[in-house]
Amino acid sequence: MLSERAKSLKPSPTLALAAKAKELKAEGKDVISLSVGEPDWDTFQSIKRVGIEAIESGCTKYSPANGLPELRSAIAKQTNSDFGMDYNPNDVTVTTGGKFVIFSALQVLCNPQDEVIIPAPYWVSYPTMVELADGLPRVVLCDKASGFKLTPKLLRENINEKTKILILNSPSNPTGCMYTEAELKALSEVLLEHPKIVILSDDIYNRLVFNGEGLAPHILKVEPRLKDRTLVLNGASKTYSMTGWRVGWAVGPNEIISAMTKFQSQSVSCACTFSQKATLQAIENGTKELEEAKRLLKFRRDFVYEQINTLPNIKSAEPEGAFYVWPDISFYLGKQFKGKKLKTSRDFCQALLEDQMVAAVPGIEFGLDGYLRISYALNEDRMSEAIKRIECFIEKIQ
Ligand SMILES: Cc1ncc(COP(=O)(O)O)c(C=O)c1O
Repeated sequence: MLSERAKSLKPSPTLALAAKAKELKAEGKDVISLSVGEPDWDTFQSIKRVGIEAIESGCTKYSPANGLPELRSAIAKQTNSDFGMDYNPNDVTVTTGGKFVIFSALQVLCNPQDEVIIPAPYWVSYPTMVELADGLPRVVLCDKASGFKLTPKLLRENINEKTKILILNSPSNPTGCMYTEAELKALSEVLLEHPKIVILSDDIYNRLVFNGEGLAPHILKVEPRLKDRTLVLNGASKTYSMTGWRVGWAVGPNEIISAMTKFQSQSVSCACTFSQKATLQAIENGTKELEEAKRLLKFRRDFVYEQINTLPNIKSAEPEGAFYVWPDISFYLGKQFKGKKLKTSRDFCQALLEDQMVAAVPGIEFGLDGYLRISYALNEDRMSEAIKRIECFIEKIQ
């Protein structure tokens, strides 16, 4: 009965793992989930209040397909101030979460067999979304030596006549690593030589950074000449802890934005209207709470980074943003746990969950084996307990 497309569709591994952890919790097990991709604090009170008021005042109907004009205006203003640009509200489209922004961008940009360069480790959904748009993911492995980031050399080597899009995500899910201005400048020099390539800049974590400036370096800021083929993707989910409100947006060339709006109008109609009102509040007035949340996040980052690196034969680079740490567990692969060989990070995570009730996401799901993605968006007591349990687990590996 099902289409070939549906048959080949894999469930999101991060959501699948979170579901398994929930199942064990429901059985009464004391599971610590390090697999979630959302902050553990609630949506800020001031934002919730605006959402409730919006419902009560009847803001409960469809909005324009590209979003409420006042929200598009606030997004254009914020993007202009962030990157020194001059977008207007018509260069913005708002839709149901960052995930659908990327999905619809790929739908309107990809022709069959167009190649999309995806630096690995990558966010789990990119390759599948490219395939759903009939494009070809061209996964480019970025190693530890480059901080898991794309280098100009790798970019150049992977461009060919079929290359249509480059996806950049900084700070990165899963590594927490962030491109520097100089690194982006070097990539932009290669991109200037290839004027047909569109850049999808997934900036979903760009305010959750610990660099003191409060914002991740951006390719448009270092090379404004890329403006006519760069799509800025962002959303309310991570920055304002609004994952359930489902609001994301794209800012960029009007031709792409209009096509995305058309696509949205024929698929999801529009983002939830009262969520858009709440997002407007978040963008215009959420800075104070965001700063507090970031202070907490930084404290946890420092804590987890220090603790992880005390584990025998496990090393991690210091994450610069988002809320993930990416420890190297390759020392333990190929070894035995309770008579079973841990061949991949998937085996490692499965055994860790079964033995210690700690859920982490295997690096292999992000296109690079030998690593784990650990989300540190949870309190220090639980984090500390999780680290103890990981230590207990690895002590048993032979
Ligand atoms: C790198 C990256 N991009 C985009 C998204 C989409 O987030 P949302 O659909 O909640 O806005 C996520 C969520 O996990 C992400 O990690």
